[in-house]
Formats: sequence, structure tokens, C-alpha cells
Amino acid sequence: TQDADKSLDDELQQLLQTLPKEEGWSGSSFYLYQGFWCSARRLKVVVSFQTHFPVSDSNVILASLPKCGTTWLKALTFSTLYRNQFARDENPLRTSTPHQLVRQLEYNVYVNNPCPNLKNMCVYKPWLFATHIPYASLPTSIKDSNCKIVYICRNPMDTFISLWVFISKLRDENKELLSLDEAFDKFCHGICGFGPFFDHVLGHWKASQENPDKILFLKYEDLKEDISCEVKQLAMFLGVPFTEDEEKQGVVEEIATICSFENLKELEVNKKGLFIPGIPNESYFRKGKVGDWRNYFTPSMVERLEKLIHQKLDASGLAF
Ligand code: A3P
Repeated sequence: TQDADKSLDDELQQLLQTLPKEEGWSGSSFYLYQGFWCSARRLKVVVSFQTHFPVSDSNVILASLPKCGTTWLKALTFSTLYRNQFARDENPLRTSTPHQLVRQLEYNVYVNNPCPNLKNMCVYKPWLFATHIPYASLPTSIKDSNCKIVYICRNPMDTFISLWVFISKLRDENKELLSLDEAFDKFCHGICGFGPFFDHVLGHWKASQENPDKILFLKYEDLKEDISCEVKQLAMFLGVPFTEDEEKQGVVEEIATICSFENLKELEVNKKGLFIPGIPNESYFRKGKVGDWRNYFTPSMVERLEKLIHQKLDASGLAF
């Protein structure tokens, strides 16, 4: 393992020399790798994940950009997929964070070990993991197998605000805070972790249109609008539809409630501690609303991003 790690470091150094580089949001540089931006530290982990993720037709992968509803999707998918593997009143979400139950491949799976034993990280079957990397860069073990992908996106305005507040709170106090304007300019130029935003969303959108049995494309706003309908769709897609009996017994609503922002935010496990190093569990739960961008955006910011949304999405059939 150590040898694999060392050779990766040498290869990584060589790779970094060849990549376009920009100042990131919190002091470290971002590199443009396979068309998406990420820090050198993250890139090392991404390469391990791309190289070593095993093939399995039954794995389920959750995909998203940061701040688009990853935590919510983890809670919902975990609760739906594994509902018959634990007692109804013993959902592990009561005592573990969604990020502990569904690990993020590039944050806490491949970080200290380029070839981790994934078996030890999964209590239930099929395996369920999450990633932020764009569709085009997913390992072939995911893209070319029958494993299913659930993608969640969110309107870019709320995504941007959620990200800016999140990074502002987490930043190293010795480093200067990136102003809202500076961050917005970077976001509009596509410079954000795993971005450009529109490339990420469109990559999964197109793949889901071409292969709807493999990729389910969800929107944060639709989940807010009608959670029961979306949870049923998720269960159907995963091949574990709710039975009539389950529906009568209110299992769908029960899952929606336990995974709700209001419930998760108030659980002790999500109020304290850190599961992912450097990121307090509580920082994943802020407001959980649609439209908070209105409290931050100036008219010129609205105009600029709306123009970009039209330019990037009009031909795709995807709208926010
Ligand atoms: P806000 O910052 O707008 O409140 P991610 O999980 O991808 O990091 O996204 C975090 C965003 O999702 C934050 O948005 C957070 O508050 C919100 N969120 C977290 N858990 C949620 C839940 N159960 N339901 C709805 N929104 C949730």
C-alpha cells in the first residue's frame, strides 16, 4: 500500500505540472483535471478512486456537486434501500450521520489508502457510496457496469450561496475570506470544487436521458415540493418499490420524516463532532430552504447568472 501511495505521489507531481491552475476558494490552488476543478490533495484521492474502484453490477452510487443536497440524498437512499435490513424504529440515522452511513468516495474512502477494503466500510448490501466527480470521469467500473447512479442537482443560485457560506465558515482563520463578489465571479467562470457547475449537471442529465434505467436524475427543489412522490420514484428506480402494505402503513412518510432537514438537524449526532476531518457534522445543516439566494443576490448577480443558465441549459431541456 505504501509503495502504491508513493508512486501515486510521484505521478501526481508530474500530472500537476501539466494541468491548468487557478486560485481556489479557500487559499489552496485548484487544478483542472479531465475538465473539472479540484485541489491537489483531492486529486490524489480521485485518481485512486478512478483506478481502484471495483466492478460490481449491484453497487449504488450517489452523485452530486457539493451543496446540492448530498446529505439529504444519502439519508433518503440509505433509508429506502436498506429499510428491510433494520427494524422500523431503529434506523441507524438516529445515531450516525448520513456521511458515516454512506461514505463519500473522495473524502473518506480513498484518502489514506489507495486500495481500501470496501467490504469493511459497508454493513449492508448492495453497497452504497457517494461521489462528487463528474459523470465523464467516473471509473469504467461504475459507468460500464450495471450499477445504478442517483444524481441530485439544485438550482445554481442556492447552490452557490450554500457553498459560499459553507466555505466561509470552514475557512482557516489565517486565510482571507473570499468575498461574495469574488466567489461569484469564480463560480460563473466555472471555478468551484468539481465544477464547472453546468458541465457537472449536464453530464449527468445527458447520461440519464440516454440511460434512464441506470441514472436517476433528481432535483432538490422537486424533493422539497413532493417528497413522498420522489421517495417512491427512488425506490422504484432502485428496484425496491414500496408494497401496497408499506404504503398503507405509512413507511414512505416515515422515511421522509426521519430524513427531513428539521429532524436530522436536531439529532445529537448531527449537532456535534466531525465525521469528515475538518468539517463539523453540523455544518451540513444550515437552512435547507429553496430561494435563500434572494437574501444575498444583487440584481446584477441575478442578471448574470440567469443569462448563463439560459446559455448553458436552454438546448438541453433541463430547467430550474
Ligand atoms: P443550505 O446551505 O442552503 O441550507 P450537501 O448535503 O450537498 O452538502 O448540501 C447541503 C445543503 O443541503 C445545505 O443547504 C443544507 O442545509 C441542506 N440540507 C442538508 N440536509 C437536508 C435535508 N435533510 N433536507 C433538506 N435540505 C438539507
